[in-house]
Amino acid sequence: MAQRLTIWRAAQLLGVPRAVLQQRVRAGEIELDDGRVSTEALLRLYPQAELEGSGMLERVTHIRDEAFGRRVRERLLPSQEVLAQRLFRQGQEMADTQRHLQRWHALVLELRARLAALCADSPDPRLPELQRQLNDGLARALATEPVDVLDVMDDVLKLLSAQVTLRPSGHQFIVEGHDTLLQAGVRAGLKLNYGCGNGSCGLCKVRVTSGQVARTLHTDYPLSANERAQGYVLACAHTAASAELTIETLEAAGPADIPQQQITTTVRALQPLGADTLALHLQTPRTHRLRFLAGQGVTLGIAAGDGVHARHAIASCPCDDRNLHFVVPRDPADPVAARLFAGALRPGDAVTVWGPDGDFVLADESLPLVFAACDTGFAPVKSLIEHALSLDAAPSIALFWLATRPDGHFLENQTRAWSDSFDHFEATLSRSDDPARGAREMAAAMRADLFDIGCAFYVAGPGAFVDALQGALLAAGVPGAQLHLEVTG
Ligand code: FES
Repeated sequence: MAQRLTIWRAAQLLGVPRAVLQQRVRAGEIELDDGRVSTEALLRLYPQAELEGSGMLERVTHIRDEAFGRRVRERLLPSQEVLAQRLFRQGQEMADTQRHLQRWHALVLELRARLAALCADSPDPRLPELQRQLNDGLARALATEPVDVLDVMDDVLKLLSAQVTLRPSGHQFIVEGHDTLLQAGVRAGLKLNYGCGNGSCGLCKVRVTSGQVARTLHTDYPLSANERAQGYVLACAHTAASAELTIETLEAAGPADIPQQQITTTVRALQPLGADTLALHLQTPRTHRLRFLAGQGVTLGIAAGDGVHARHAIASCPCDDRNLHFVVPRDPADPVAARLFAGALRPGDAVTVWGPDGDFVLADESLPLVFAACDTGFAPVKSLIEHALSLDAAPSIALFWLATRPDGHFLENQTRAWSDSFDHFEATLSRSDDPARGAREMAAAMRADLFDIGCAFYVAGPGAFVDALQGALLAAGVPGAQLHLEVTG
């Protein structure tokens, strides 16, 4: 009999983006029952040939392969304790199912014997008919059916990873390997509440309403006896011990919910991306990471206190809150850029980070996404794209990137990597000397390329570029509420 899976689990099993399955649900190709899809329907849409090329089957196969075994185990398998707990619970469920089956079987055999006796004693013609129906039904139930591949894979997956559902939002994410609930949630692009990340502030407190958790870290934060009795745990110090887990927690709704922070970071790398563009990689202390939303920026301060500071957009995803990446263009008016281009900063030096700030963030909706960037306006757009890819909720992602400087497409290889890795990602790169003219040409290219005013548009770059593109998109009928704008230097 077909089993039912959540869209999250189905996407993971099939190795397709969740957004693709959601699109097929909207198109009526997949029917949902109580939010779940049947394995039968999935196998119809994704027959065995496709499954064999899917991520999960490869992973399971690779576990047997010596060459890949260690790498996969490190990334995918939970700790021995957590694996043992999940195996134990799966064993309990199987024992329960077996006990029930045995009882049903005994009951059916009793009824069959009773029916046979009644048939012998009574002339009622309905009794033999009932007897035939029962025997046919039993024969069907005991017949050997082909194995449901997805069902088997789901059982394996339940041991390797757990699915967590957040209440009240309904957001879901998968916990794999040694990740804590907090790490897995943040990696999945969710705006969970947290502070220290090491069990001392209590900000990541969540309430477990179903399923089991296992502690992974000793913590200093004292949960009261009452909180413990109600099921509260620290998300940064626990992982899922059951295949499914539901927790109650509040998530940030927007920039106003993200606290201001000050962190002394360390320069990990400083690397030219072109003659006039530098990539700056800062790392926070392990116990003091930056909580921010994709698309936001921070103020960077070199040698705190002497006034050398400037605002820069973060070019990386909040799903890695320890490694912060920036793109710094040559700009004599920016004291931080001037110091960096003068070679005044080296790996290991300290840079103070204040923030985050800015409201150029992803709206909570699942529209197709169109990103438009000019030159280093690509920095916040890159953060948004990485976040959107982690969330896996947008049906499609398109990037239009205009360069007005010789090294304007300083991360062209990154856009190629996204195009190669994600079927639903497309990039169009263009050049122009003039940002406003380039924006108008970009708008014309968007309209030539299956233009859809039902998308969410995220536009970042110099004022002239943003104004021109905004005007063109509004004129094309895009509602103002679907336009998100960021003027960069
Ligand atoms: S984030 Fe501080 S205790 Fe979990």
